[in-house]
Amino acid sequence: MGNSGIPRHIGFIMDGNGRWAKKRAMPRNFGHTQGAAVFKKTINWCRELGVECATFYAFSTENWKRPAEEIRGIMSLLRQYIKDIKSFSDENIRIIILGDISAFDEDIRAELENIMKTSEKNTGFIVGIALNYGGRAEIALAARKIAEKCVSGEISADNVTEELVESFLYTREMPPLDLVIRPSGEQRLSNFMIWQAAYSEFVFMDTLWPDFTKKDLERAIREFQARDRRFGGV
Ligand code: FPP
Repeated sequence: MGNSGIPRHIGFIMDGNGRWAKKRAMPRNFGHTQGAAVFKKTINWCRELGVECATFYAFSTENWKRPAEEIRGIMSLLRQYIKDIKSFSDENIRIIILGDISAFDEDIRAELENIMKTSEKNTGFIVGIALNYGGRAEIALAARKIAEKCVSGEISADNVTEELVESFLYTREMPPLDLVIRPSGEQRLSNFMIWQAAYSEFVFMDTLWPDFTKKDLERAIREFQARDRRFGGV
């Protein structure tokens, strides 16, 4: 028997948009448009099911390697969705952006910073959006900040504990990552929340992200609940 209730925090690797579009002989960005619509619906499904926090992998540090046309498409979707994300704030949803957004155009960066600030006190639900995010980059950034504090004498090397590292991660104010869902048939983390996923459960499925439904989410949660999470114990 499993010992898990509803996961507090679910990570979603939104994969398979390109293949979904290709199957329909449509451009890849058509898949991203559908994928973005599913992103929005998934937030509501999570809230309905009693999940506290959902983090979505929207753009990785490696995604800059994609054709310029595709990157332009994703950026234009992001601009469109910023309006929706802003309206989440009125529904008591807190938005946390994970990643180095200094690489984005100034208008996007300013909007995202503003959204994070204005939603900071919201308590109804947390939406994490990973943009120009990489798990290794996140840990390296934390290490850099800790090193600076060591050099300035604020802390000593002995103070560097797991809790201290955690306090420098983007997820410092989120509940622990209980479950990672990756559709589209790939079975890897692809540099997504590698620190936070140390004890997460993983559910992989063949569905492509634009086809992901509430039923898929419920099935993944049922699978999570059937697992026996021992966290290294017996
Ligand atoms: C992975 O599918 C998807 C991405 C790299 C982009 C995800 C972006 C969105 C869903 C839209 C923008 C997000 C927000 C929050 C507005 P893939 O292109 O790797 O698919 P493939 O593996 O089939 O090629």
